[in-house]
Amino acid sequence: MQTKFWQLDKNKKLEIQLAQAAELVRRGEVVAFPTETVYGLGANGLDSEAAKKIFAAKGRPADNPLILHIADKKTMKLLSTNLSPSALRLMDSFWPGPLTIIVPKSPLIPTEVTAGLETVAIRMPNHPIAKVLIELAGGPIAAPSANKSGKPSPTTAQAVKEDMEGVIAGIIDGGASNIGVESTIVDTTAPIPTILRPGGITLEMLEEVLGVVEIDPGLLQANQRPKAPGMKYRHYAPRAEMYLLEGKDVSTEICYFVTQARAQGKKIGVLAAGDVVSKLAISEQIILHSWGSTQAELAEKLYDYLRRFDQENVDVIVAQGVSEEGLGLAIMNRMRKAAGNNILKAENGKLILQSGTIPSFL
Ligand code: TXA
Ligand code: MG
Repeated sequence: MQTKFWQLDKNKKLEIQLAQAAELVRRGEVVAFPTETVYGLGANGLDSEAAKKIFAAKGRPADNPLILHIADKKTMKLLSTNLSPSALRLMDSFWPGPLTIIVPKSPLIPTEVTAGLETVAIRMPNHPIAKVLIELAGGPIAAPSANKSGKPSPTTAQAVKEDMEGVIAGIIDGGASNIGVESTIVDTTAPIPTILRPGGITLEMLEEVLGVVEIDPGLLQANQRPKAPGMKYRHYAPRAEMYLLEGKDVSTEICYFVTQARAQGKKIGVLAAGDVVSKLAISEQIILHSWGSTQAELAEKLYDYLRRFDQENVDVIVAQGVSEEGLGLAIMNRMRKAAGNNILKAENGKLILQSGTIPSFL
């Protein structure tokens, strides 16, 4: 399939520039578009055949439901049968924005979209291109992140192109997504609203609006099955084997890790705080990415760094963990998954295996 590209011009009307993309969506084709979190792979959310094309393009397991994207809160009346008070409060406080809510589904929504569940995931993105595209398409757009299943989500049109060129009808280039990690998912059908995936809207922000909020135990304990079907898969993963180093001050341990890996002739990717990165000698064998100075900056760049490690063909990646406050909860969730739960902890100057496997060179 020939994939069209739309490079948008800030000085021209979005309605005109997006007309062709919207027409393709109306005809049941798949078009990638930017949102403030990550790029989405969009198709008509009320058309089961169009939804099937999304699953095929991503190589996504059929038991993993899609998120419906809307441009207007009024659409909720068509898509859900019964909104709880917590759902209404969340819509009021955080839409448009990086929050997806799980609500009871209306009969209008095809079973392919919800993977047979009685609930549906809905989000109103805060991005002008997404908004106009949904409006022109004339209905909700079903969209997962626009990566091949299992890979890091794309935060640029270039990253979408790497995974989807020749596979989908078109890609809209709207610049880099500025949040960089996917939306927070909150199940509003549970007795207490429950976070199924941490993201751009933090636990602290949700607590301020809702009072009590639970976190799905499946997110915290490896032996519990997560409630969001997609969270059970290895995800956000680069090709190289990745290790996450958690603990308060792990700079010595990261340097030790790098020395050992180098001695084995490995090419190493390092993602760590600026002061740690500056301790490591620059060499062709090491690709360094520094966190940046805020959590928001790390979230924004995280997937791009993981994809760049792949492009540089590194053999092994070591990442330094961050505090789980605020956006840190989402960042750590994605880093643990990217590392396939290979987690090492620094204790009294030693590296101790927390979960997963220890690299052969340690
Ligand atoms: O930021 C985002 O949410 C991006 C952009 C494109 O909007 N989308 C995104 O979609 O991350 P996706 O498909 O990659 O992740 C959707 C997650 C999956 O883990 C899926 O299992 C879960 O939402 N999900 C969807 N419907 C659900 C439902 N009814 N109940 C529980 N989990 C659900
Ligand atoms: Mg995804």
